[in-house]
Order: sequence, then C-alpha cells, then structure tokens
Amino acid sequence: MNKGLTLPDLVGQSRLGQLWPELNFPFLLAPMVGLSHVALRELIYDYLPQGACTVFPTEMLNSRRLPYQKVGETPETLVSERDRQQLLVPQLLGNEESFIKSSIERLEKLGTQGIDINMGCPVAKALKHNYGVALMGDPEYAASVVDMAVRNSQRPVTVKLRVGLQNDKDYFYQFCQGLVESGARALTLHPRTAAQKRRGSADWNQIRELKERVSIPIVGNGDVQVWQDAVRMMNETGCDGVMIGRALTARPWILWQIGEALGLETPLGREGQKAPNTPESEAKEFGVALESFIHYCFRYFPAPYAQRKIKFYLRVATPWLNFGHFLCKRLGKCQNPPEYNEVIKEFFAKDGLVLASYTNLAY
Ligand SMILES: Cc1cc2nc3c(=O)[nH]c(=O)nc-3n(C[C@H](O)[C@H](O)[C@H](O)COP(=O)(O)O)c2cc1C
Repeated sequence: MNKGLTLPDLVGQSRLGQLWPELNFPFLLAPMVGLSHVALRELIYDYLPQGACTVFPTEMLNSRRLPYQKVGETPETLVSERDRQQLLVPQLLGNEESFIKSSIERLEKLGTQGIDINMGCPVAKALKHNYGVALMGDPEYAASVVDMAVRNSQRPVTVKLRVGLQNDKDYFYQFCQGLVESGARALTLHPRTAAQKRRGSADWNQIRELKERVSIPIVGNGDVQVWQDAVRMMNETGCDGVMIGRALTARPWILWQIGEALGLETPLGREGQKAPNTPESEAKEFGVALESFIHYCFRYFPAPYAQRKIKFYLRVATPWLNFGHFLCKRLGKCQNPPEYNEVIKEFFAKDGLVLASYTNLAY
C-alpha cells in the first residue's frame, strides 16, 4: 500500500493525532495482563526518545472490580509521574453500564486520557461472562458497550479486538462499523481468531483490509519482534499506529531504535549513545534492562508481588536470550534486589550471549 514511504512519512500519515493532538510517536505498548503494569511502563520510558509522546496501556482492568477498589493504589492501577507525561489509556473489561461508568469515573481521576475496551480476551471466563472476545459474537451488544463507555467518558474511547470468533469477513466489517457508529474513535486489531489464542501467525492483510473499510484510525498489532517489523507493518497495511506486546518485554529499546531511525533525540541519559543493534549488544542491554525492571518492581510493589511479576516477565522475555531458561531458574530463587543483581551480574559477564531477532513466540 505505502511501499516506498520513509519512516517519517509513515509517522506523518498516522491519524491518531485526531484523538490526541500531543501524540507524535505512533508506537504503543500492548495491554498484557500481569505485564503492562507501572514497572514495565517505567522500564519502557527509560528507552523512549526524548520528546516522544504516545499511548500507554494498563493491564486489563475488570470493571466489576474497580468500583470496590482503591483505584490508584492497587498494583494494577498504580500510576507514575512519567505516566502522566504520556497518554495513559487503561484497558477495561466490561459489559454493564453501572460498572463501566463507575470504573471510568475513578480512572479519570488519575488523569487517564482515554479508555480502551477489551474485545479480544479469549479466556474461558470472559466467554462465560460475555465480555472480552465474547462481545464479538453479539454486534449489537458490543456496540452498546462502546456507547456506554462513550457516554460516560470525557476522553476518547477505543476498542482492541481480534478478527472474531470465526473467520467471517463480512460479519467482521459490519461488527466494526457498529463500533464506529457507537462512537469508537480508533480500533486496534490483533488479527487472530478467538480460537487461535496466540498460536499461528497474525495475518497483517486483515489490518490492511480493515483500514481500507473503516473511517477511524486503525492500530495494527501482532508478531512484531524487531523494530523493522513495526515499520514494515505500517508500510504494508497503512495502519495509523503499531502496538507491540511480547517483544517489548525482551527489547524495550525497540522504541529507541525507531526513534533513532526517525532522527529523534536519544532517551534521557543516553545522550551521544546509539541504540543497541547487534545480537551481542542487545543481550548486554537485556541485562541492564532486567536490573532496572527489578528495581521498579520492588519500588512499586510489595516484595512477594514483585517476585511474582519478575518471574512472569522472565517467562515472556527470555525466549529471545540464549541460556535464558538458565537465567530464569537462577533468578527464580532470589528474594530481594541485591540477590537478583548478583545473579544478573554473574550471568551477563559470560561471553557468547546473544539476543535473537526472532523466536517462535511460544508464549
Ligand atoms: C501475557 C499476555 C497477556 C495479555 N493480556 C491481554 C489483555 O489483557 N488485553 C488485551 O487486549 N490483550 C492481551 N494480550 C494480547 C496482546 O495485547 C497482543 O494482542 C498479543 O500479544 C499480540 O501482540 P504481540 O505479538 O506483539 O505480543 C496479552 C498477551 C500476553 C502475551
């Protein structure tokens, strides 16, 4: 579609600025349960080019729980100073107006800049309670959920969805049209069916086709592993933004690499440096990032919670790193930052460590 356009042209063509005029860098972290919390966002901010502004998610938040929680104090809803300088758009799971209304009210008090409705979660519980991807089986109800959020939000409402419960394109486009008519301002497409979960590969053609059919901005998502993939997705699909999940846990500096290609400033504190760009330098940076991530987990979370989050992060991030399983095992026994740091120091002093460009994305 856009073959031949340069990266600055591609960024210039993004229409996400219609929702948020401050947005100038259309590359987004994906909402991921257990991962897209304040500690991961802080890590990614360390690698964000200075001056870049984009949307950041929370973990998926259940609208039936938020009204009974101290929003802003639970680990899932903690917000940092740097979150407030970006566009924090929490992701909400829900299907009932009273819960959605109360959840949005509480979240907006934290300074959030929009609400993203989850229509992609394929776990059995979501299907049973008719939220997440289950909403994709009922177009009218899904559209009414968007309408509930729009009526109760001061900020843009977006939807993250899959291609549906089955591969029926006509149904899918009509479904999306219903969301647009209800006031959704952008859609993020993870082009897999519900049954695929995260298996198989994401079909980027479906992002291009959706982009050609609906009038609102489309964010593409799925299987980006290196920064060049993000550029290729924009080029091949014409999407307005690229959302990256698993790979941003392993190489949070993807945003720095993209910024470098765009001629943006380095991240703060990295003046005069180049983004890591070889398997060896990326492996070394993995150790630096891991130490920072652990620091942030212990800064924001109680110790046992921090340990669980670190364990989970390692499961998702280490498949790119050779001997990563060994690192997971060694770190699994640590209890406090000095213990973690000692293992990290020893592990990353080894020769021969490399970070692969691609894995089979098994998680
Ligand atoms: C551990 C994990 C948790 C996830 N949780 C959510 C979620 O809460 N909400 C959501 O919309 N997608 C969720 N996803 C899906 C991601 O947002 C994304 O669509 C998917 O991982 C594909 O992108 P990627 O290939 O860049 O990882 C999750 C993915 C992972 C790996």
